[in-house]
Amino acid sequence: MKNIIIAPSILSANLACLGQEVAEVLTAGADWIHFDVMDNHYVPNLTFGPMICQALRDHKITAPIDVHLMVKPVDKLIEAFAAAGASYITFHADASNDVNASLRLIRDLGCKAGLAFSPNAQFDIFKYDVSNIDLVLLMTVEPGFAGQTFMPSILPKIVEARGILNTIDKPIRLAVDGGISVKNIGELASLGADAFVAGSAVFGALDYNKAIAAMRAACFNL
Ligand code: DX5
Ligand code: ZN
Repeated sequence: MKNIIIAPSILSANLACLGQEVAEVLTAGADWIHFDVMDNHYVPNLTFGPMICQALRDHKITAPIDVHLMVKPVDKLIEAFAAAGASYITFHADASNDVNASLRLIRDLGCKAGLAFSPNAQFDIFKYDVSNIDLVLLMTVEPGFAGQTFMPSILPKIVEARGILNTIDKPIRLAVDGGISVKNIGELASLGADAFVAGSAVFGALDYNKAIAAMRAACFNL
């Protein structure tokens, strides 16, 4: 069976009981916890800092924490999130002064490194040192808010990215983020995405278990 990752985004969790929410989605079958960091500068919204990531670790959350930085600049927060227990740290290329140095920094600090592409960003991965990239995150909405509508115009970019990643002689995860639900996840999986960030589709569901199981099943039922 293909190894796919479901990563609920805590942006849509009930933040008044975050530790419990995270524990519940993991018990319900989530693979990673997606942690959206917004700075009211690179994007208009303002969310969570490293203290919250550390608090989840202190709450005995051992699953991978997948930090998505929508901040500029990135390096200081890379260091802070690595120290706070992040597993993956992903940033947008235009938010770093030196993308290769930021990728190397993430890996030197013991985390896996990801590069994110906003809807309008070209998939120009060979501009960077792919040996230090573990994950590519294609945004399927404009970064900044949960609950937006998936942009079908990104479908060709997913196909392009999968084709390019297949030519690289190491595994790089292809994640999609924004408007992902049971309705589109199957098609996205068939195009080669293998990690699925979902905020409202998971935390907005009455039953996390059913929501995650249905999304996983949809990846194998085309
Ligand atoms: C948007 C964030 C997403 C967001 C996804 O900027 O990067 O991770 O939480 O939320 P949904 O799944 O509701 O579109
Ligand atoms: Zn995200």
